[in-house]
Amino acid sequence: MTPPQSPPLPTAELHVHIEGTLEPELAFALAGRNRTPLRHADLDELRRAYAFADLQSFLHLYYELTAVLQTPQDFTDLAEAYLVRAAAQGVRHAEVFVDPQAHTGRGVPLEVVFEGLGAAFATAEQRHGLSASLIVCFLRDRDPAEAEALVPRLRPYRDLVIGVGLDSAEVGHPPELFERAYALAADEGLHRVAHAGEEGPPAYVWSALDILGVERVDHGIRSLEDPALVARLRDQQVPLTVCPLSNVALRCVPDLAAHPLRRMLDAGLLATVNSDDPAYFGGYLHDNTESVAGALGLHAGERRRLAENSFRASFLPAADKERHLAAVAAAAP
Ligand code: HPA
Ligand code: ZN
Repeated sequence: MTPPQSPPLPTAELHVHIEGTLEPELAFALAGRNRTPLRHADLDELRRAYAFADLQSFLHLYYELTAVLQTPQDFTDLAEAYLVRAAAQGVRHAEVFVDPQAHTGRGVPLEVVFEGLGAAFATAEQRHGLSASLIVCFLRDRDPAEAEALVPRLRPYRDLVIGVGLDSAEVGHPPELFERAYALAADEGLHRVAHAGEEGPPAYVWSALDILGVERVDHGIRSLEDPALVARLRDQQVPLTVCPLSNVALRCVPDLAAHPLRRMLDAGLLATVNSDDPAYFGGYLHDNTESVAGALGLHAGERRRLAENSFRASFLPAADKERHLAAVAAAAP
């Protein structure tokens, strides 16, 4: 039986990779515009590549398609397309990941990335009714020295960039390798988050907390394997940005009915629902909420709690959090 459709509640999106919002149609359009041909003959052939065995197999396609992004206008078009879709799904504030090394590493300057994304984000509130800022992710499967060198280069973009994160292939690349990069980021007054416990073990969540000093954990689903870690996350109300459709698409979880979100909420964790790479995993924010709520039988109070958690877990100033929480209360009395 299909679950009843509920309208989206006002929500903050805290875990979405801007490169992961590149829809196949836009990838083809940009490949044509920039004369950067794709390996795939047409859209149908490309779509058949969207079947993933694990994180690494997804990253392969993700980095391949990223190569169509060349000019500031490409990044503006990408961000604009995300903002339109996010607004339609109830997103009122977005803290969006970007992977600068995936662009600088193939010769696209940092300025192109930030100017292009910044142009769309600067007018997001006015045009789409949502605020948006960036969290720069370090690629954990590359030399940590690259991450350390990136931190001071973020200084000119502090209106746009509010924090740093850690993504890409997790297993074998533990957080502690980035201790120095995170210390530099902290000195710059940047917020700190990290992907941990998606495919990697609970030990990676501990070191993200204790060595990197992260304020939020991205994914963190494997934390449930370690009761002492669950107690720590609960007692300190460390936010976890959970991405249900991603976890199923990358086979971290067999299906939505087995998704750990129900157990996370029952354990008193500050969990939020997010879309991760929505163009690849079958849905944007409300699609994720609707699907997982249906599969786990989340009741109205739990859905409201997820929306409230998203603003509490955001890096918005207190007054903005209160304004958004009042909007959630008005939408879900
Ligand atoms: N996990 C790790 N790295 C990523 C992801 C993800 O889901 N998406 C883009 N980079
Ligand atoms: Zn992610």
